[in-house]
Amino acid sequence: MIRVAVIGFGTVGSNFARVLHEKRKMLKDRYGLECELVAVSDINRGAVYDPEGLDIAELLRLVKESNKIDGYKGGVKGMDSIRTVREANADVVVEAAWTNLETGEPGLTHIKEALRAKRHVITSNKGPIALAYPELKRLADENGVQIRFECTVMSGTPTIMLGMDGLAGHIVNGFRGILNGTTNYILTNMEKGGAYADILKEAQKLGYAEVEPSGDVEGLDAVGKTVILANSIMGAKLRVADVEREGITKIAPKDIEAAKKQGKRIKLIAHAWRDGAKVKAKVSPELVELTDPLASVTGTTNALTFDTDGLGPVTIIGKGAGGIETGHGILSDLLAIHRSM
Ligand code: HSE
Repeated sequence: MIRVAVIGFGTVGSNFARVLHEKRKMLKDRYGLECELVAVSDINRGAVYDPEGLDIAELLRLVKESNKIDGYKGGVKGMDSIRTVREANADVVVEAAWTNLETGEPGLTHIKEALRAKRHVITSNKGPIALAYPELKRLADENGVQIRFECTVMSGTPTIMLGMDGLAGHIVNGFRGILNGTTNYILTNMEKGGAYADILKEAQKLGYAEVEPSGDVEGLDAVGKTVILANSIMGAKLRVADVEREGITKIAPKDIEAAKKQGKRIKLIAHAWRDGAKVKAKVSPELVELTDPLASVTGTTNALTFDTDGLGPVTIIGKGAGGIETGHGILSDLLAIHRSM
């Protein structure tokens, strides 16, 4: 039996709970995984803890009806995130608070406290991993637990497992890809004639954009993912500030039309490469030939090509944003922890 606490019950946290609930039987039959959600703590929606396990369907119903979980019958109410991480009887803490790529907070503190309390951590939060992965990995190792972060890059599409496990034994010389769902969704729909502000609003409503969407459109989210990939898979020591960055805010409909006339498409491309002993990286809009496989990656679909010594280019294409998609990324990390227990 694995007991799970979820910090942050917005799009990601609640969709992870939904996946866990809907796949409960399959997880038991196929993997022998039995799992209880014992605690949820969210700064806006409330907190509830029951060491015996919470009724996920009831939590989801409450969130749908009132966007609050305070009305849950039973359990201990009102434990803040730090107390939940320290005191709930969870084996695994799922940290799904909002991303802050400047301080990593509040996620960084949640994760450190959870690791110190010897709980495995799964996070969807890009800030702490982009800013402090080596320190968090060391802390996890010292406490004999794991820190996993599959869904920080391309939501549930398995990029981290591909790079760290599937390509183990290769030298990854670099990568190139489309790593932000919101901006790719905006560029795709602008090409169809939509207006930038309307499409961004829609992306927020659909749960693709960050709480603070300037992070998406100014390229910072893609930079965070680039740093995460480079540091975890290429052994780089990149900081967010080291990555050259330009977002899509200056792209006007006339630029998209001009690209079309040249038989090209504008894409926000993330790129990392080795330069001697260093790894360098850049995120910027590029004019991509229609024959380039990245040109046909549209909407919230993302793509990533690793350049490896053993296989040459290895490409993965899949959803880059979305609640259910990210919920599945958390589930894949949970299954990896289950396999190792
Ligand atoms: N805001 C992010 C994106 C969510 O649009 O890609 C997934 O990390």
